[in-house]
Amino acid sequence: MPILDKHKVLETNATLLLVASLGVVTVGGIVEIAPLFYIENTIEDVEGMRPYSPLELQGREIYLREGCYVCHSQMIRPMRDEVERYGHYSLAAESQYDHPFQWGSKRTGPDLARVGGRYSDDWHVDHFTDPQSVVPESVMPKYGYLLDNLVSSEHIDDLLSTHRLVGVPYTDEMIENAAADFNVQVDPFGDIDGLLERYPGAQVRNFDSQPGISEMDALIAYMQMLGTLVDFSTFTPDPAR
Ligand code: HEC
Repeated sequence: MPILDKHKVLETNATLLLVASLGVVTVGGIVEIAPLFYIENTIEDVEGMRPYSPLELQGREIYLREGCYVCHSQMIRPMRDEVERYGHYSLAAESQYDHPFQWGSKRTGPDLARVGGRYSDDWHVDHFTDPQSVVPESVMPKYGYLLDNLVSSEHIDDLLSTHRLVGVPYTDEMIENAAADFNVQVDPFGDIDGLLERYPGAQVRNFDSQPGISEMDALIAYMQMLGTLVDFSTFTPDPAR
């Protein structure tokens, strides 16, 4: 029987076709899904990634609250135009402590995955207060009120605990010291050794140049951290994956 005739048997018998299709889908499914149960981790461990410091995490909360993700993505795709504009493509590990992740699907404004260090703190204060003062054609809304809203460290340990609940490896020590770490990150004259030990590379300064810890401080601390944790001059992808 020529091969086409054999196929005709399948095509003219609905039950047989259904059973055969089911077989094919099952094999395909097993091949795709089964390995996931055997590899230890689907995310490559990357040096430099650490949970966010309490102040950065608070800034991230403000980012979520204000809906910045509606206009900004945080994922650089591995395509030439993106890599040339924004830097190294995003790694899965870079959003492993994000709950929920902020990849986004809309870019009214630029991708922010590597915005850390691109601008000065003062630029950010001016830009958030009045985006059109630095980028005249900008359609970004004004967020000047963040300067007036002070944030306290009162519930910051609860915020860290909540993130631990969903899998971020905050230690007991980090949670115990959350309030102190939160307060000291805007105080360059404070005792920052503990903060830097727990959160290597955390940037310490008065981000908004005003007394008190404002939502602006927290948001800028978060902005300036984005994309800076992994050192891409030494990073090489793991060829085994
Ligand atoms: C209505 C859309 C919109 C919203 C909402 C929005 N932005 Fe923007 N954003 C833009 C646009 C457009 C630009 C580019 C022009 C400019 O720099 O203002 C921009 C630029 C930026 C830049 C400069 C990025 C770069 O690489 O030049 C940062 C940082 C930024 N936004 C942060 C935020 C944060 C944080 C929030 C939330 C508090 C936010 N934006 C909310 C539209 C938006």
